[in-house]
Amino acid sequence: MEPRALRRLWLLCCCCCCCCWGRGASSGATFPRIWPRSRERQAAAFRESLNRHRYLNSLFPSENSTAIYGINQFSYLFPDEFKAVYLRSKPSRFPRYPAEAQTSISNVSLPLRFDWRDKHVVTQVRNQQACGGCWAFSVVGAVESVYAIKGKPLEDLSVQQVIDCSYNNYGCNGGSVLDALNWLNKTQVKLVQDSEYPFKAQNGLCHYFSDSHSGFSIKGYSAHDFSDHEDEMAKALITFGPLVVIVDAVSWQDYLGGIIQHHCSSGEANHAVLITGFDKTGSTPYWIVRNSWGISWGVDGYAHVKMGGNICGIADSVSAVFV
Ligand SMILES: *[C@@H]1O[C@H](CO)[C@@H](O)[C@H](O)[C@H]1NC(C)=O
Ligand SMILES: *[C@@H]1O[C@H](CO)[C@@H](O)[C@H](O)[C@H]1NC(C)=O
Ligand SMILES: *[C@@H]1O[C@H](CO)[C@@H](O)[C@H](O)[C@H]1NC(C)=O
Repeated sequence: MEPRALRRLWLLCCCCCCCCWGRGASSGATFPRIWPRSRERQAAAFRESLNRHRYLNSLFPSENSTAIYGINQFSYLFPDEFKAVYLRSKPSRFPRYPAEAQTSISNVSLPLRFDWRDKHVVTQVRNQQACGGCWAFSVVGAVESVYAIKGKPLEDLSVQQVIDCSYNNYGCNGGSVLDALNWLNKTQVKLVQDSEYPFKAQNGLCHYFSDSHSGFSIKGYSAHDFSDHEDEMAKALITFGPLVVIVDAVSWQDYLGGIIQHHCSSGEANHAVLITGFDKTGSTPYWIVRNSWGISWGVDGYAHVKMGGNICGIADSVSAVFV
């Protein structure tokens, strides 16, 4: 298996993916140069990855639906490199749910399974490549879905516009979901279609459109800490649409599939993603989480994260957008 895997990786290593750079990055920061790296270093990182996968897979072998770890596009990176380059976001504090002035979450009885994808209101998984723009991908994904839920056609909106124009953020060098939402809400900027302002995987100058140009703005957003209230969080998902969350994604470097139940912590948020649904039909209920590392990562680009217990801090920083 190893020679085949190595060949596969040799191909994969060229198309690097990326996740979130935090707001810790200064605006003048350039990407750390991890490529080109010597073959020796890549081979050493790959060997370490194989050992790590073996170890992670050995811990809970008899657990139902346990997560499986193995070779993917990140296996040529040492964990420190993955972390230093891709996971640079600082956790922001969100007010705890329930808050005094909270928006009304419908008191629906939860179905066993719910996924906004079934209603055809979620766009395809995208690939942020070597751009630390997860914060923009997740926020734009939420706006796309909420408009589609309101009956507008489902369209890819411009992530590059958010990367270039959202002030207080650092584009591909990192950003904060809250600052992006605040910018959208305050400026009432209209997000244009992706085809009008395509993704370049690098920072650019903000391109402005005339007021009459059609686009999609938001009316507001909510941001709460739902830890210990994941059933309420599920109701929020059904009431408002897909939820933007910030998680600890260190162990996601090696994730292939199954339900993530260990190997990540709360209070270490470093990567923004979009929850589109949940599934409680099996013995381990889980959140259905859209990532922005391409469709070859995880479960067709998605991760499954156990519900309850605030796994990976998934309930710590939860945002919904209103349009
Ligand atoms: C695993 O699943 C089986 C069948 O659904 C269930 O009876 C068992 O309790 C589960 N085990 C754990 C540890 O959840
Ligand atoms: C929600 O509905 C259930 C019954 O469906 C009821 O028992 C519960 O009190 C309601 N909760 C709130 C906060 O209204
Ligand atoms: C969004 O903007 C509206 C109008 O300016 C304001 O009333 C509201 O408080 C803002 N929402 C948030 C969450 O900041």
